[in-house]
Amino acid sequence: MTDYNTILVERDGRTATITINRPKALNALNSEVMTEVVTVAEELDRDSGIGAIVITGSAKAFAAGADIKEMSDKTFSEVHNQNLFAGWDRLAKVRTPVIAAVAGYALGGGCELAMLCDFIIAADTAKFGQPEITLGVIPGMGGSQRLTRAVGKAKAMDLVLTGRMMDAEEAERSGIVARVVPAAELLQVVKEVAGTIAGMSLPVAMMAKEAVNAAFETPLAEGLRLERRSFHAAFATDDQKEGMAAFLGKRPATFSNS
Ligand code: CAA
Repeated sequence: MTDYNTILVERDGRTATITINRPKALNALNSEVMTEVVTVAEELDRDSGIGAIVITGSAKAFAAGADIKEMSDKTFSEVHNQNLFAGWDRLAKVRTPVIAAVAGYALGGGCELAMLCDFIIAADTAKFGQPEITLGVIPGMGGSQRLTRAVGKAKAMDLVLTGRMMDAEEAERSGIVARVVPAAELLQVVKEVAGTIAGMSLPVAMMAKEAVNAAFETPLAEGLRLERRSFHAAFATDDQKEGMAAFLGKRPATFSNS
């Protein structure tokens, strides 16, 4: 695969891992990181040989936010005309399941990047927060919306208005984190989870992801209709026949992703 300046990309079977790699800046998300992560994620999404994508950082920082040095001198018209951070929306449109493996700081844009993924598995060292208000700005990569949907108004207001950090245990209790694991086991656990997902039928996993995401976008009746249509559509796949035959035959299923 191509060489990148700010990320490392590794493939292992049907799983790909994107590691943000700007250790001196605690993985601050500058525009080059955004371009590289989004471009690679879209490439992997077009590759039917990949069934799950992991996004991770280092032991110290998943990402300490958008790059403050890069944006500090920008004017209103520059950030407005460039539509700063809008490029990240493309990551949310990736159809392949994406897991965030978070250790250390996930602050500002780092917390928002983790929440852009389908779910977060955190190390017990993880710290989440939206400290933008301490810099004289507000979240700009979806934090005010995704955090509020995940944790509710009370805690979202607390975090966004004070800029305080929450630890992994509080993040799991609040609903932004799916599982907390010991830091030393984080990547192994996440790769196992990614391998499990990548072993499912890719078209059906995409349907499942789309249906869960619809719960955040649509009224209930509309979401239920989309779910029912996708459930019915699953019967058009070979993988539904294989999955049910395997269950009845008391053997593991082997999906063909078709
Ligand atoms: N942008 C640019 N550089 C950053 C950075 C960021 N978000 N976070 C850390 N760095 C750099 C530091 O400037 C420092 O660089 P130098 O060695 O060149 O001085 C290096 O990373 C190490 O950082 P610290 O010395 O500060 O490390 P620490 O262990 O003492 O503290 C920290 C760690 C608490 C995470 C602290 O670095 C920090 O508070 N970072 C900023 C967090 C933040 O405010 N994030 C929000 C950014 S705005 C945003 O994200 C907007 C949005 O919604 C998209």
